Amino acid sequence: MMHKRVCVIGAGPSGITAVKNLLDEGIEVVCYDRNNQVGGNWIFSEKESHSSVFETTHIISSKTLSQYDDFTFDDFDKTVADYPSHDELRRYFQAYAKHFALYQYIEFETLVVHCNRISNQEWEVTTEKNGVPKTESFTDLVVCNGHHWLPRWPEYSGKFTGEYLHSHQFKKAEPFKDKKVLVIGGGNSACDVAVETSRVSKKTSISWRRGYRIIPKFVFGVPSDVFAKRSNWIPIRIRQVLNGIMMRILLGKNELYGLQEPDTKIGETHPTVNDELLYKLRHGKVHPKVDVDRFDGKTVYFKDDSSEEFDAVIACTGFILTHPFFDKDFLDYSEGDVPLYLKMFHPEYQNLYFVGMFQPLGCIWPGSELQSKIMALELTGKWQRPKNIKQLCEREVTHPHYKQIKTPRHTITVDYGLFRKSLLKYLPKDYVSKKPASQVAEEALL
Ligand SMILES: Cc1cc2nc3c(=O)[nH]c(=O)nc-3n(C[C@H](O)[C@H](O)[C@H](O)COP(=O)(O)OP(=O)(O)OC[C@H]3O[C@@H](n4cnc5c(N)ncnc54)[C@H](O)[C@@H]3O)c2cc1C
Ligand SMILES: NC(=O)c1ccc[n+]([C@@H]2O[C@H](COP(=O)([O-])OP(=O)(O)OC[C@H]3O[C@@H](n4cnc5c(N)ncnc54)[C@H](OP(=O)(O)O)[C@@H]3O)[C@@H](O)[C@H]2O)c1
Repeated sequence: MMHKRVCVIGAGPSGITAVKNLLDEGIEVVCYDRNNQVGGNWIFSEKESHSSVFETTHIISSKTLSQYDDFTFDDFDKTVADYPSHDELRRYFQAYAKHFALYQYIEFETLVVHCNRISNQEWEVTTEKNGVPKTESFTDLVVCNGHHWLPRWPEYSGKFTGEYLHSHQFKKAEPFKDKKVLVIGGGNSACDVAVETSRVSKKTSISWRRGYRIIPKFVFGVPSDVFAKRSNWIPIRIRQVLNGIMMRILLGKNELYGLQEPDTKIGETHPTVNDELLYKLRHGKVHPKVDVDRFDGKTVYFKDDSSEEFDAVIACTGFILTHPFFDKDFLDYSEGDVPLYLKMFHPEYQNLYFVGMFQPLGCIWPGSELQSKIMALELTGKWQRPKNIKQLCEREVTHPHYKQIKTPRHTITVDYGLFRKSLLKYLPKDYVSKKPASQVAEEALL
């Protein structure tokens, strides 16, 4: 087989598992990251950066279902809480990189600026470090640049003249002390941000453009995703109805909290998991509002004809899926369908892989780990992608796991249980490999 030299873009949770699994198969790899450390989104910084987490962020997928098979939380630190904080996660990812001796393969503070596909065996990758450009040649490219960092701003007529920011720029609640704050959105950022600002603000309101079900972090004392996993054997359509009924019994109708009722089943919008929002609403700390209509100075007009003055508006309206290092006419997934088999194989470009570019009802990096293992097997010729790859890519678009509402955030959703099953189909039973590649090589020589 031709010698492979693979470029990985990004050393976040997806990039490090891509590097690890390529090394396990003896493949030459170079990873570039514009940050100065491993961790991607989980490197909190008070300054605006790649990361979109804030001071108090804890994950919404529980640790039981948010760990690599090769390096579990028990392998890292048995005392980690059910829902680790951003800092515990950063340390977990850095411990993974250290354990598998990945640092020597990662070039930090190096931005990938352009990727040019020359042929099925060659990429030209141009990077920039300290303003100095460099172009290198690789056989294959693995994209792990994350999809929660470029803000998607809402558009309204008029201009808001108070403080206007996106959740990507929200770092902590303290600057909003004694201010009147409006948070826009019904996703996890919006609900987390509203809860946080409500602790210090004069008044916090949250504007939803539709009704959402708020899923608690625990059900009957068990993390909700662990609880939900027990019903994975039930077909999705039935599960959606049953889980909807259970949520209604546990929490009651949204109208009890002044919120709009959802007109979707669970999974038809990306789940919002939050234990505090409903409590804050019933304690008068967060005030529900409908969709924004327009801005005029510091006044916000809502679609129910009400209006109110605010000091700050925080748009928690999601992120754009972007790959700025590709020419737009080569590849652009920022809008519309994303036809990739297993969310990683392109229908035509065989030496291009995406790892971690899916939105699970569950956690991203365990899926990235399995994707990486399949990729590494293909690159060493131990596995071949199905011949009908084009049809399979189309099928991912026409047969999604969930029939979600058509809004920009719903183009790469997977049900984690089903996705995992599809990935495992292509892996041997003993796919878990807990030893660093260097140690395995040393032991083989003895
Ligand atoms: C507030 C918040 C909470 C979240 N909570 C959860 C959760 O509970 N569970 C979950 O599964 N997911 C969660 N996510 C989703 C999050 O995207 C994933 O957890 C995870 O970070 C994905 O890992 P990744 O490596 O694919 O991307 P990222 O973590 O975004 O890492 C991408 C890496 O690529 C680098 N990079 C990007 N572009 C370039 C370039 N051009 N050149 C060089 N380097 C580049 C970046 O510096 C970064 O290190 C959350 C997201 C947010 C914003
Ligand atoms: N604690 C945590 O672990 C945590 C915290 C934050 C985020 N996250 C994760 O990070 C990712 C991004 O979450 P996110 O909440 O930032 O974004 P998101 O999931 O894309 O949600 C964006 C929200 O804004 C709404 N919206 C979009 N455009 C709008 C507009 N023009 N006007 C009004 N509303 C608009 C969306 O409505 P529609 O329903 O109509 O699309 C949705 O309610 C998700 O994977 C999420 O789970 C996790």
